Amino acid sequence: MRLISKAAEAHIYLEYERVIKHRVEKEYRIKKLDERIRRLRTNSEARNLRRLQGVINVPRVLDVDEKTNTLTLQLIEGRLAKDVFMEQTEPTQTALEVGAQIKRMHEANIVHNDLTTSNIIISGSRVFFIDFGLSEFTGKTEDKAVDLVVFNKSLKATHPKKHAEIWVNVLRGYNPGKQVNARVENILERVRYR
Ligand SMILES: Nc1ncnc2c1ncn2[C@@H]1O[C@H](COP(=O)(O)OP(=O)(O)OP(=O)(O)O)[C@@H](O)[C@H]1O
Ligand SMILES: [Mg+2]
Repeated sequence: MRLISKAAEAHIYLEYERVIKHRVEKEYRIKKLDERIRRLRTNSEARNLRRLQGVINVPRVLDVDEKTNTLTLQLIEGRLAKDVFMEQTEPTQTALEVGAQIKRMHEANIVHNDLTTSNIIISGSRVFFIDFGLSEFTGKTEDKAVDLVVFNKSLKATHPKKHAEIWVNVLRGYNPGKQVNARVENILERVRYR
């Protein structure tokens, strides 16, 4: 087994064609609370990945171990959208596709809640989404708008030079209806003038 990522919440191992995602104990959290948080995130990640199977491109859930808060997922071969956007001179097509896929996710009433270009893998012409630990099943317009705004914010931080071009095309691909659009604009305005 090879450790491929050691992010804030989880250790990610590679084993053959599978990815093992183990949510590790956080010393700074109260033990009981920490256990609940890790269980909750492991379960919502598995549940919502299963809901999205066949709707958008997500890794298959191969196993859920509730005792150790470990998920076994299909390995997605490709490159992080973060690296792709950094190297691409012309991000339009990728951004359009990312936006279109977020729309389908939202139409299935799933919001991701941690949309960043490190949680999107580009595999050939396909866009995969990963890291659903904070995701929710919700039909609320507000939740969907917030999901987009969070993504906008992370794009600004990660891709300061290309942000505008990426964002415009994500929105074009998403093609928000009146309600979501109004909410996104409203939140962005509030953030801007704070
Ligand atoms: N199914 C997968 N296929 C390929 N690579 C993956 C897969 N799952 C995770 N990775 C790699 O591991 C990294 C971290 O995984 P992930 O984003 O799921 O966890 P995290 O950010 O540590 O966790 P969380 O915020 O849910 O606690 C990803 O950015 C990606 O590079
Ligand atoms: Mg992540």
